[in-house]
Amino acid sequence: MKKEIVEILCCISCYSSLNLQIDEQRNEEIIRGHLICETCHVKYPIINSIPRILPAKMHYIEKKTCDSFDFAWKHYGRQLSDNLNSEFLSLVRPWEASDFKDKVVLDVGCGAGRLSRLAASYGAKYVVSVDLSGAVDEALELSKDYSNIRFLQASLFNLPLKIKFDLIFSLGVLHHTPSPSLGFKSVLKSLKVGGKIGVWVYGKEGNKIMGPLMNLFRIITTRLNSRIRKRLSTIIVMMEEVSYNSVFKSIGFYGEYLRYFNEQLSRADREYVVFDFISTPIIKYISKKELDIWVSEVGLLDVMVLQRNGNSWKLTGRKQ
Ligand SMILES: C[S@@+](CC[C@H](N)C(=O)[O-])C[C@H]1O[C@@H](n2cnc3c(N)ncnc32)[C@H](O)[C@@H]1O
Ligand SMILES: [Zn+2]
Repeated sequence: MKKEIVEILCCISCYSSLNLQIDEQRNEEIIRGHLICETCHVKYPIINSIPRILPAKMHYIEKKTCDSFDFAWKHYGRQLSDNLNSEFLSLVRPWEASDFKDKVVLDVGCGAGRLSRLAASYGAKYVVSVDLSGAVDEALELSKDYSNIRFLQASLFNLPLKIKFDLIFSLGVLHHTPSPSLGFKSVLKSLKVGGKIGVWVYGKEGNKIMGPLMNLFRIITTRLNSRIRKRLSTIIVMMEEVSYNSVFKSIGFYGEYLRYFNEQLSRADREYVVFDFISTPIIKYISKKELDIWVSEVGLLDVMVLQRNGNSWKLTGRKQ
């Protein structure tokens, strides 16, 4: 991390500014050290160039979420397709690449930073990329060529950010948290008045039968160890591929979604999707009605809620 990032960070308990203590530095890059809150005497570590501003005590379910995504990004991060340009822009429609130009952008739940790199390549002034898990280490490694991304390990429920952003996106994240609606409100606090937010979440609609069935299956799979889950994901993808080509495709089973899954994603992408699905402790399905409540409670303008692949929702809006 560079020294300048300290100016945008604050303590998650008292929101005071933080003082920088450097333990190891290479040229401009601070590799190890601490960010210290003089008010509540808390020291947040900087490890491997990344500030880790996490609550002192994390809930068991958040720790499990961290473990599951740590493993997922470490084992799949490099093999996933980075060619997500049209998919990303479709998830945040009606935004266009030009909307990112010179903007201060926040990527909430950045994973291995695939979408952060796209936002940065569209000319963002800079992108702050936050994830609860150690995925940020992988993300930093994969983003070495981008000088306008700053990574941070933190929770979206306790964002250690003093500044407000022009654009915030959080794609595929809120449905993995204990309370997606509180998460949405928490993230919105970091948005400027007039700034735009885009989120994508699993939908209740289109998952009415598969959702509960899968949750039963997940009771078993979330208890298996990561290596077994990885093998299981490979097997599930192979079986699904055969079933899709021989039966599902012709009878239109789970039509739009399985067409997308089989015809647009690479084998590695599909294995990653399945691994996440059978591993993450929390998956919530959110209805259009709930999204309407989120939006009306916070009073967003220019709201667009669109269904994607028949089983998820993408929402964009502007803060008033
Ligand atoms: C399915 S991945 C999506 C990653 C990325 N948005 C993408 O599309 O490539 C979900 C990410 O959300 C992160 N996450 C889950 N709960 C979080 C929280 N409370 N705060 C920040 N990130 C969180 C996970 O660690 C994981 O990397
Ligand atoms: Zn403090």
